[in-house]
Amino acid sequence: MKILTSLPELRRNLRNVSGSLGLVPTMGSLHEGHLSLVRTARKQNDYVAVSIFVNPIQFGPEEDLNIYPWNHDHDLGILESEKVDFVWIPDTKEVYPDGYQTYVTVDKLSSHLEGARRPGHMRGVATIVTKLLIVFIPDRLYLGQKDAQQSCIIKRLVVDLGFTMDVIICPTVRDSDGVALSSRNIHLNSVERNAAVVLYRSLCESQDAFSNGESDAGRLRTIIADVLCSEPLAQPLYVSVAGIDTLQELQHVSDTALCSIAVKIGSVVLIDNIVLEDS
Ligand code: PAJ
Repeated sequence: MKILTSLPELRRNLRNVSGSLGLVPTMGSLHEGHLSLVRTARKQNDYVAVSIFVNPIQFGPEEDLNIYPWNHDHDLGILESEKVDFVWIPDTKEVYPDGYQTYVTVDKLSSHLEGARRPGHMRGVATIVTKLLIVFIPDRLYLGQKDAQQSCIIKRLVVDLGFTMDVIICPTVRDSDGVALSSRNIHLNSVERNAAVVLYRSLCESQDAFSNGESDAGRLRTIIADVLCSEPLAQPLYVSVAGIDTLQELQHVSDTALCSIAVKIGSVVLIDNIVLEDS
């Protein structure tokens, strides 16, 4: 496994790649969710590259950039055992040189959900992922359904900017009690961690209601909100039932919809989602 930091060094190494390349962008603090992307990439490509970069421009001034958990040795050990070929750990100054002012904005899709809650966040994500795609030019890009809006925006920018790679969205990996794995979970104390089960429980209730014939999006939102409010430690920030490609709120769900929620538990905001399926 080659651990690369500078851009010229990375470019030199990528020039020797003869075969398909899969790219998994991350911010480190790797868990089984990230590893499911890496393992899928490993199966589908001759070479696998992982980037580890805590991207400062996707964090707001009040956000957790400085407390972002980060353990190089742990991450590199895991990636080595997953037989990753290249790990890129760039220097912030090389990614964003002094005077930096070039950004990628995916317009309408960024105006909903996390984009509305975290101004500038989706622009930061779209910009760094575009920069990664330009440097790596992978054949396949791996993203998680856990961050549904982010994945939706990146799929859009790949089409809009004429990139040719396939975008592979991998399912959300959960703990046995249903809580979606996230680097933020370590900031929950044990009582809060128990309370976090309410997120997935609320989403499952909306799937049950949909399977039993409920197609009114407003009522589905109420079902989710009621379950969330039954947990005293949970403070819902939004409950959305929206089109899976448009992210626009629906009135009526015909065949499918993206149910997504953001919930504050203690000082931590957790997000989760499911795609409603006809069953
Ligand atoms: P990060 O939070 O490190 O996540 C990296 C990738 O892992 C994302 O595609 C995310 O959706 C996926 N992921 C996280 N938790 C997951 C889970 N429980 N199951 C499945 N996949 C999961 O997302 C980012 O970094 C950044 O915004 C990034 C895309 C790297 C741009 O900076």
